[in-house]
Amino acid sequence: MSIDHNFQPKMIGIICNWCCYGGADLAGVSRFQYPPHIRLIRVMCSARVDMLHILKAFVNGQDGVFVGGCHLCDCHYVTNGNFTAYGMVQVFRKILKHIGLYPERLRIEWVSAGEGIRFSNFMTEYSEELTKLGPIGTAEGIDKETLSFRFGAVKKIIPFVKLVLTQKLHVSELTEEAYYTFFSSEEFESLFQEIIVSKLTISQITSLLQKKSLSTMEIADSLGLSSSEVAKHMNNSSTQGLVKYDVKSKCYVLP
Ligand code: FES
Repeated sequence: MSIDHNFQPKMIGIICNWCCYGGADLAGVSRFQYPPHIRLIRVMCSARVDMLHILKAFVNGQDGVFVGGCHLCDCHYVTNGNFTAYGMVQVFRKILKHIGLYPERLRIEWVSAGEGIRFSNFMTEYSEELTKLGPIGTAEGIDKETLSFRFGAVKKIIPFVKLVLTQKLHVSELTEEAYYTFFSSEEFESLFQEIIVSKLTISQITSLLQKKSLSTMEIADSLGLSSSEVAKHMNNSSTQGLVKYDVKSKCYVLP
């Protein structure tokens, strides 16, 4: 990866009012330096950060999105919203990776209102990391049209992903250790592959079929999948009535 030192990443920080914003404020009054090009948006709790907000930021060309909250177990709401935010970010990072983007473009950290220096250090470090990564899409070798297509497919499955987060990826024990362990486990990886990747692939396939009917091989080529992987997804999609096979043209079409 060659570094363009003239590149200035577009960065957005969505941070909670009670802790992280306090940290940012303290960094300001204490005159701790951090890159001026990060734009901060204040929300009442990190749990208010929606996947759609993050997706929209990337669609609009942000190179990185930072989510900041209170330290785990210090959230100011009884729902302990920062645990929710943590799980959501871990899933979204995997989605980014799956669509070919660097997952490091999304980051979550905890900063208390008394940790101005910690906030300033995170911003500086994150800006340097994004500068090294380079501009979104271009750095990953993905052209604009392909990136837009992939973002479109992600957008369609966000309501489903939210449901999966509350049902299948729910961690019952509200502790830092339980959350960190689960979201770095093989169980999480296999659930992600089995449930979310599958849904995302079907979303991409139906988006392709909206333009024209396609054979298994054409779908496989477009998505960089093997024909057996496509066949597996098409079987599931046909069963659910999402696509149908046209025997005459030997292509899949939307019903
Ligand atoms: Fe700060 Fe919930 S109030 S993370």
